Amino acid sequence: MPDTTSPTNSKIVAAYREYTPKSAARAQQAKQVFPSGLVHDSRRLDPYAFYVDHAKGSRKWDIDGHEYIDYYGGHGALILGHNHPKVMEAVHAQLDKGTHYGACHELEIRWGELVKQLVPCAERVRFTSSGTEANLMALRLARAFTGKPKLVRFKGHFHGWQDHVAFGVSNHFDGTPTPGVLDGIAENVLLAPPDDIEATRRIFESHDDIGAVILEPTGASFGQVPVTREFVTELRKIATEHGVLLIFDEVVTGFRVGPGGAQAHYGIMPDLCSMAKILAGGLPGGAVAGREDILELLDFEVAEAKGFEKIGHQGTYNANPMSAAAGIAALELIAAGGICDTATAQADTLRRKVNEAFEAEDVPWACYGEHSGFYIFTNPGNLPITPTTFDPFAHDHATLKGSQKGPTITKLRLGIILNGVDMSGKPGGLTSAVHSDDDIAATADAVRAAVRMLKDEGDLTA
Ligand SMILES: Cc1ncc(COP(=O)(O)O)c(C=O)c1O
Repeated sequence: MPDTTSPTNSKIVAAYREYTPKSAARAQQAKQVFPSGLVHDSRRLDPYAFYVDHAKGSRKWDIDGHEYIDYYGGHGALILGHNHPKVMEAVHAQLDKGTHYGACHELEIRWGELVKQLVPCAERVRFTSSGTEANLMALRLARAFTGKPKLVRFKGHFHGWQDHVAFGVSNHFDGTPTPGVLDGIAENVLLAPPDDIEATRRIFESHDDIGAVILEPTGASFGQVPVTREFVTELRKIATEHGVLLIFDEVVTGFRVGPGGAQAHYGIMPDLCSMAKILAGGLPGGAVAGREDILELLDFEVAEAKGFEKIGHQGTYNANPMSAAAGIAALELIAAGGICDTATAQADTLRRKVNEAFEAEDVPWACYGEHSGFYIFTNPGNLPITPTTFDPFAHDHATLKGSQKGPTITKLRLGIILNGVDMSGKPGGLTSAVHSDDDIAATADAVRAAVRMLKDEGDLTA
């Protein structure tokens, strides 16, 4: 297979360059400003990413004038699609009233009440500006509450980019710190294999200083490497037995798996959870929520009454009025029902149609996922699989995530873009409640057309 390390001599790459000249120029310009010309690692694309001018509903348009069906979905924030009219109305109204009061405001209460109403474990809520910050606070709360320093995490699970969670996600699976992270932090993080309850139990049994365990409750990268419900159920049990706090990272799953997130879907109550993305309706925002006796550690009066030292917490943009307005509008729509189910149903159809396309093209790849997520497994090891019956549980995280590397994947993405669809580099994406049946059918056609381009290029022999 002519899978060269550089796709520079590729017809697909040449076609992409020809299709996106304005983006090419902007990418050059950006390199003089940002490392790699980027502001977020996962937006990287060879030879360069295209630049977006505007978006609406399920679509976005690049600066060269091309329209795309979008499955990036604002990195998962946009289950209502781009510019949902109700969210826009709330944001515009708030814009005229002020973007930041440096003071308490009524919207923050309504927003927090909605979180309490929807999220089972949310006895108390504290807003942050991002999911990374929400997890940072969840871990600090857990250590302070239990008086125990160690954190158990699962290999491949992503929790943002702060020091405690920076390694063991896509590299450093031996638990050593990535550059800039202190050894002392890495020494207090124990990495467990995902979906292996016996290995996790052994870690719990061999350490008496574990304060918390955190996971993406449907598996790494929103189920790209899924975990079973049984695993999460058992994890809840053994965490309680060992006095370890269970933290669900619901930054993606929250308000997406269902209005009450993965915890409501499973019927499993974590001690704490973190949220972001959909929470703030497409604007920046996050929150940590959970048991009242844990969130009390942030409470001035309780700390004084009980005589403990309070955890400090600031944040210029915590529950800022713009994000609160968008968040309220989004959560009210989600609470009314139908949104999460529609997005899930569209992803279901998309996975089926893409697999039918792979079978029609006789390509041993598979489109899989749960809820409103989908991933394309490009089968780097050439395993004997059937697209429509592919079982991700039969493969480990290295196999499932290894799928996303290499020039063929880059060219697959470019081919999909050239056929009017944008998805993330996994490769995969997230559906929204506004992806239409036509969008889904056109997307399966685009993937099939991209596969044919790869065949034409000699990358796929089938
Ligand atoms: C599961 C999960 N946790 C945490 C984060 C970090 O959130 P943020 O990007 O808002 O800092 C992300 C972001 O993609 C995520 O997917």
